[in-house]
Amino acid sequence: MIPSTYERYLTDDWHHATSTFPVTSPADGSTIGHAADCGASEAEAAIDVSWRAFESWRATTPFERSALLRRWQEAILSQRDEIAELMSTEMGKPVRESRAEVAYAAGFIEWYAEEAKRVEGSWLASARPNRRALTMRQPIGPAYAVTPWNFPAAMITRKAAPALAAGCTMIVKPAEQAPFTALRLAELWAEVGGPSGTLQVLPAADPVPMTKVMMADPRIRKVTFTGSTEVGRLLYRQSADTLKRLSLELGGHAPYIVFDDADVDRAVREVIACKFRNAGQTCVCTNRIYVQAGIHDAFTAALVEAVAKLRVGDPLSAETDIGPLIDEQGMEKVEAHVADAVARGATVLLGGSRVDGLFFQPTVVTGVDPDMVLMHEETFGPVAPVLVFDTEEEAIERANATPYGLAAYVYTNDLARALRVSEALEYGIVGVNDGVPAVPHAPFGGVKQSGIGREGGHWGIDEYLEVKYVSLGIE
Ligand code: SIN
Repeated sequence: MIPSTYERYLTDDWHHATSTFPVTSPADGSTIGHAADCGASEAEAAIDVSWRAFESWRATTPFERSALLRRWQEAILSQRDEIAELMSTEMGKPVRESRAEVAYAAGFIEWYAEEAKRVEGSWLASARPNRRALTMRQPIGPAYAVTPWNFPAAMITRKAAPALAAGCTMIVKPAEQAPFTALRLAELWAEVGGPSGTLQVLPAADPVPMTKVMMADPRIRKVTFTGSTEVGRLLYRQSADTLKRLSLELGGHAPYIVFDDADVDRAVREVIACKFRNAGQTCVCTNRIYVQAGIHDAFTAALVEAVAKLRVGDPLSAETDIGPLIDEQGMEKVEAHVADAVARGATVLLGGSRVDGLFFQPTVVTGVDPDMVLMHEETFGPVAPVLVFDTEEEAIERANATPYGLAAYVYTNDLARALRVSEALEYGIVGVNDGVPAVPHAPFGGVKQSGIGREGGHWGIDEYLEVKYVSLGIE
């Protein structure tokens, strides 16, 4: 099922690397294919290609780029089921969610096909009669993207579409766990007429040698990364010598605050959508559910009842709600978080252990306190810790008591409270009565240790543009 071309990598054309690495299915551990293992020399060649391609790509009109992006979007949507299956096979996301992700991924391309035509300059007021002043916005240059395994399609289009729309070229290093979706997307870009070298995909078993070359080369003008805060800090440091522009979408530890006035069934529905999406493996999944004392017991009982109905199983089955975790390391982390919570006095109301292989039971835990590991580290698994609070002030203080600031959630029917709490939460994204707020046309990104910059919306394309000021003497 994995096309043989995907043992190669894509720069100006498909190439064989000197070696490959196996990609395994998290559902059953079988090898589903081999990916090209790119390193420093492939990275150097890719930068040459990217730089040459940039010279001509930047000269195309925004309307030409827009038309090509549109064709790419259509091609992806026409292959929606195939791409969804590929994604579920390589990283275990339930296929219903994968289909939704393909549409989400295509949505970024649609949005930036439109935004390409809206990159405008300005005419400034002149301080002198014989001068005119204007600004223009131009592509920043070749960009390097390091993308995660948990959204193998959307995290690529969220970066590549604005880059290409702006007139930049991009080299993608997809996650080693899920390189095939990235190769398929780039193949479709080439098939619809995307010029050679504008979008390259170089898988690598070890990202370090390739990334070192990218970070050291001044021709790479922009780096965009989605992943851990630890790696984000490393890239930030490595970008200093060549002063690259950076976008970092890093870890989170999202609170979900449910107030007494909430409709319990609706709040439970949104919390489940937020917590159990992709088996809890998204940066914006809630990690701490704070429920006000008046509805705590009713909410917890309804949550347990609803979570018990989630079906764990084969990611390729349309019935599945929860697929496998990505790998043994991910599983060990989830197990350690639950074990630590139990050892410190928490109560597991549902689930709490491995089903089989990399499948973990959807879990609800109460009696959680702030010292437990799952209260300050991202679990990245299907574990929902429920805590109780009394006042709005207390909820805000506890929600903000973290170095992270990506997404936070509030459930209330009181509009004034919704606005007050949204203003007070130190997060880049707040979902009010909405457990899955991310959409292509809105800004996505965090504050504090959760990152720098925004993807999505008109903010996303600004990350790939420089402002040039032109002063014109007219004597
Ligand atoms: C992420 O987890 O990084 C992305 C989540 C989203 O786009 O909704």
